[in-house]
Amino acid sequence: MSGAYILAIDQGTTSSRAIVFDGAFRSVAVGQQEFAQHFPHSGWVEHEPEDLWTSTLAVCREALAGIEGGASAIAGVGITNQRETTLVWSRKTGEAVCRAIVWQDRRTAETCAALKREGHEELFTRKTGLLLDPYFSGTKLAWILDNVEGARERAESGELLFGTVDSWLIWKLTGGRAHVTDATNASRTLLYNIDENCWDEELCGLLGVPMSMLPEVKDSADTFGTVDPEHFGAELKILGVAGDQQAATVGQACFRPGMIKSTYGTGCFALLNTGETRVASRNRLLSTIAYRLDGQTTYALEGSIFVAGSAVQWLRDGLGIIEAAAESQKLAEASDPANRLYLVPAFVGLGAPYWDPDARGAIFGLTRASGPADFCRAALESVGYQTLDLIEAMRADAADMDTDDIVLRVDGGMTASDWTMQFLSDLLAAPVDRPQVLETTALGAAWLAGYKAGVWPGMEEFSGSWHLDRRFEPQMEEGERTKLHAGWQDAVRRTRSA
Ligand code: G3P
Repeated sequence: MSGAYILAIDQGTTSSRAIVFDGAFRSVAVGQQEFAQHFPHSGWVEHEPEDLWTSTLAVCREALAGIEGGASAIAGVGITNQRETTLVWSRKTGEAVCRAIVWQDRRTAETCAALKREGHEELFTRKTGLLLDPYFSGTKLAWILDNVEGARERAESGELLFGTVDSWLIWKLTGGRAHVTDATNASRTLLYNIDENCWDEELCGLLGVPMSMLPEVKDSADTFGTVDPEHFGAELKILGVAGDQQAATVGQACFRPGMIKSTYGTGCFALLNTGETRVASRNRLLSTIAYRLDGQTTYALEGSIFVAGSAVQWLRDGLGIIEAAAESQKLAEASDPANRLYLVPAFVGLGAPYWDPDARGAIFGLTRASGPADFCRAALESVGYQTLDLIEAMRADAADMDTDDIVLRVDGGMTASDWTMQFLSDLLAAPVDRPQVLETTALGAAWLAGYKAGVWPGMEEFSGSWHLDRRFEPQMEEGERTKLHAGWQDAVRRTRSA
């Protein structure tokens, strides 16, 4: 069924991937490439815009070479991307004015603090569902306009364009013919009104952003543009776009209110579908757009943790106590629980529900007997504790929602560790469902494109293709759980900045 092949591009924080799915939602060809991370100052994280583009191009070519007929067998392209990462480029030359400022970058912490002091947070939250944190694109874009020589003048004269990574890739793929994004990516910028579904003049004014720089916002399944045939040898249509966490929500078929997906990549991001109603969090979670289909917006509550898988990378690349991520589970299992350490991995500040950009990581409980195994255990457990913080906030917020029982579906690299998933279920005192297909982010983008192309089925049939691999059931005694949680809360309290 060649006409049902969909090419999904997943441009993430550390690598670019392309996957071709067939009409049975199976991955049939893959390309993947890592690219350089730049840390020019403490708390700064940048990507080279050309790296994002050339790695994407290369992995698409690699994946297309893996199927019979190549690009001509593709019915549509779906794009999903690391969110919030901010780019500015010239509409005349297509050249970026500086490196992309990555979502993890904290350089605008002081700008956010100043906006809060001036009393603006309530307005931003009411309109965008977000909080004033350097995580989001708005203050990063303002930083570029204020700090890159000539950028403000060029932006005001209409020459410069802003985009998140999806917009940048679509601009490049279409040879500069489309400057567009989708509602999920727009909802991460601090500039987009999620009730009225439009860019907000007042917020743009507060951040000094000329509105002529902003892309056109489309549904998540829509016609975004046509790929220039010079890239893959055929004219492919881009028909689906969503930020990676929203795409994973779709790929996990979390279409009903009360369903949560939690993805463990560089960070961990949990989204609770709240349906057509926007729920305002009373517990420092974000309200965001889960997807917009046929003009209808579905909302989510989101908890964002900045360090999950990257804590394991730190064990490998920073401390050198493991050679491969998979070793962390074995070592953790060997650790003596009597030597328990608490790692608060606030390497780039703390996200939800604390929102403390100035906090930095800390480890508690060290004794002369502490060793690599205890560090591994503490790193894996930190992911469980942080998820517990999010799920508790979600449970409290969802108490007002009319939902059946909450369902938690997990995905991402770390979910391969049974030990970590069991600890998570123990801490949450709730079941954790791991699906058979773990490529949920790319699959979500592919479904959006396949649905728009009319070659893939609608939501219901797609939901029926979700199959459980394993359900983890809680086994820990309540007393032990309460003791561990109290230890974590104390560690966080001692880590937070003044
Ligand atoms: O909000 C940031 C998120 O989209 C990054 O996802 O998977 O690239 O770590 P990931």
